[in-house]
Amino acid sequence: MFTGITHSHHYIAYLLLLTAISTVAYAIYARMNNQSIGAAENKLSLITMILAHLQLLFGLILLVKTYGDATAANSMSDIMKDADLRRLVIEHPSTMILSVLLFTLGRMKFKRAEGDNNKRKALIRYMGLGLALMLAVTPWDKLF
Ligand code: HEM
Ligand code: HEM
Repeated sequence: MFTGITHSHHYIAYLLLLTAISTVAYAIYARMNNQSIGAAENKLSLITMILAHLQLLFGLILLVKTYGDATAANSMSDIMKDADLRRLVIEHPSTMILSVLLFTLGRMKFKRAEGDNNKRKALIRYMGLGLALMLAVTPWDKLF
């Protein structure tokens, strides 16, 4: 079961990175061109949310196993001293949870804000910051 979830977590990562980058890039482009809010921002941010939450769900399941395996074989101070292990068990999961939280806040504020300008600002600020965190802790060496 974990193999299937690892594969899903691996392939959803490509799709999520693509849609998250598209959402933020489109919002910035539309703001620069003073376009009014259309269906594109709503659809792009919704697809990003679905993929981000799926990734969160699979990531949390993987974390239970990875954390269990790591702590069974190492003490917490060994995990903290080993850069690769620390990245896998601590840094990647915690930063990604924060990133998905920012995406969710961005989408909630996008839906609730009044006016095109405020809606777009929510996407650019929250999803932009979430995306920056996501790009920082994506394990690129494992992805390609
Ligand atoms: C770890 C499990 C999950 C948690 C804790 C979680 C939490 C949340 C929260 C707090 C919201 C914001 C609700 C609001 O707008 O007020 C949300 C929205 C959403 N979630 Fe999740 N979720 C989870 C899993 C999933 C999964 C597995 C999917 C789909 C595959 C999903 C799809 C969505 C979508 C599409 C929205 C946005 C709905 C909209 O804005 O119209 N979530 N989720
Ligand atoms: C949202 C919370 C997330 C949690 C809790 C989480 C957790 C994890 C864990 C525990 C692993 C290690 C699995 C193993 O033992 O090999 C992992 C691997 C990985 N994660 Fe996440 N993750 C999250 C989000 C993300 C996101 C948003 C992306 C990318 C956009 C991502 C991309 C990856 C990749 C590429 C791997 C390596 C998988 C492989 O071996 O190919 N993760 N994640």
